[in-house]
Amino acid sequence: MQIDVRRVTPLRHKTPCLVVGVDEGKNTTPLLKELDQLLHGALTRAVRSGEFKGKSGETLLLSGVKPLAAERLLLVGLGKGQHGRDERLRQGAGQAAALLQGRRLSGFSLVLATFCGNMTPAAVAGIVSEGILLGSYRFDRYRTENADTRPQSLQTVTLLAATAADVAAATAAVTAAEAVCRGVVLARDLVNEPGNVKSPEYLATQARNIAAAGGMRCSVLERKQLEEEGWGALLGVAQGSAREPRLIVLEYQGAGEGERPLALVGKGVVFDAGGISLKPAEKMDEMKMDMAGAAAVLGTLQAAAALRLPVNLVGIIPAVENLPSGTAYRPGDILTSLSGRTVEILNTDAEGRLILADALTCAKRYNPRAVIDLATLTGACIIALGHHASAVLGNNEALIQALLKAGETSGERLWQLPLWEEYGAQIKSEVADVKNTGGRPAGTITAAAFLQTFAADLTWAHLDIAGTAWEEKGRGDVPKGGTGVGVRLLVCYLQQQIERDRRKKA
Ligand code: BES
Ligand code: MN
Ligand code: ZN
Repeated sequence: MQIDVRRVTPLRHKTPCLVVGVDEGKNTTPLLKELDQLLHGALTRAVRSGEFKGKSGETLLLSGVKPLAAERLLLVGLGKGQHGRDERLRQGAGQAAALLQGRRLSGFSLVLATFCGNMTPAAVAGIVSEGILLGSYRFDRYRTENADTRPQSLQTVTLLAATAADVAAATAAVTAAEAVCRGVVLARDLVNEPGNVKSPEYLATQARNIAAAGGMRCSVLERKQLEEEGWGALLGVAQGSAREPRLIVLEYQGAGEGERPLALVGKGVVFDAGGISLKPAEKMDEMKMDMAGAAAVLGTLQAAAALRLPVNLVGIIPAVENLPSGTAYRPGDILTSLSGRTVEILNTDAEGRLILADALTCAKRYNPRAVIDLATLTGACIIALGHHASAVLGNNEALIQALLKAGETSGERLWQLPLWEEYGAQIKSEVADVKNTGGRPAGTITAAAFLQTFAADLTWAHLDIAGTAWEEKGRGDVPKGGTGVGVRLLVCYLQQQIERDRRKKA
């Protein structure tokens, strides 16, 4: 899809559909009044009948809208108030794109001014572009039949701006949004890809391609090297699957050689059946999404390279499959991790923390200024926060606060859970240094407490994305399936850090 920005008068602009944003209770702006008059009071009637009031989530599609040059008019409700407005714009634009794509239109034009409120046209252009690119996303590469019942991709979307200066600023914002959204789409595609296709080696191949396209270094460790180096926790998880594990490292250098990198660690369990502690059959298919952390890391590195962000990054992805078999690890096993510390296995379904433990140990080799891991780590996180926020925990309050802020700005919200010392008692083992489960109470926290014991000398934060990586129903800018969560959050975090460092220097 092509998004361009043009300076044209909305009412005289020829397009398959003119998209207009309406703030709840504010259907009296000059443009809306003019539209209403031209359409003989159609908008007034819609508001009176309660059909369309401008609430967030509401849309009204009108066709036969002569004397407008457009073939159709779509009103998109933006809700009311400033709080959370960015997110409502993104959702509204996403909903519009999905709806019009569903009607098989070739494109549409959106009147930027009607989405602005007190924001600049450039800022709004960035947000609505994200909404459009992400809302129109579909994973249908495996559907070979009934092509006519599937939405055709939108070809051109035009954002209508009022001045030449607005066109220039908005165009730059669209270009940046496209780079970020390509990262999100990459992450969604990887998550949606079925388990039979995405082996650990498949993830490694993807990483190599991303590295080559973005001028990054990529190295991949295979079983033999992992054995020689002593990745005992990762290898323990991997041993139930016939598909060999991989450890994938991507390095992006956007700043000076000497600058300490930020390390991003992503859980890459390509399918999590639970191992010998087998999961129930219901919804087990969704466990193909257990590599969403890895997908977020890959998407973020791709976007950072495309945006040429002036930072150094290292992405570390432990990639394995967790299956039961005659060679699988078992409850009661004791594994020796890469750090040398030993782990008693109580439940083979608590595999994510094991591969992350070795990856965190590996991160130390890069002397990172901070490490952020992302993982679909615990079902307990869904119980705690549902699907509207990821959990953040860690050992550095400044890092956590910066991430929380990026979560608010990007709309990929986080909520902090405590990591008090007391929780550590739940993962003490009698026979090893630590055990891999802490029982039912505070499952998300005890998982993080486990990771913390491997992050001792690191500035570290952990994001549990179990509830946010997968969308069950589909909403605004997120269709059913993989959400690509983490990419927009991390890019936003990096941009805010860069901005903060620049201010400090100035
Ligand atoms: N991948 C799962 C967590 C998960 C569950 C992610 C549902 C997304 C949706 C993880 O490996 C797991 O199985 N965790 C166990 C830990 C328990 C055995 C301590 C869980 O949450 O039940
Ligand atoms: Mn599991
Ligand atoms: Zn898992």
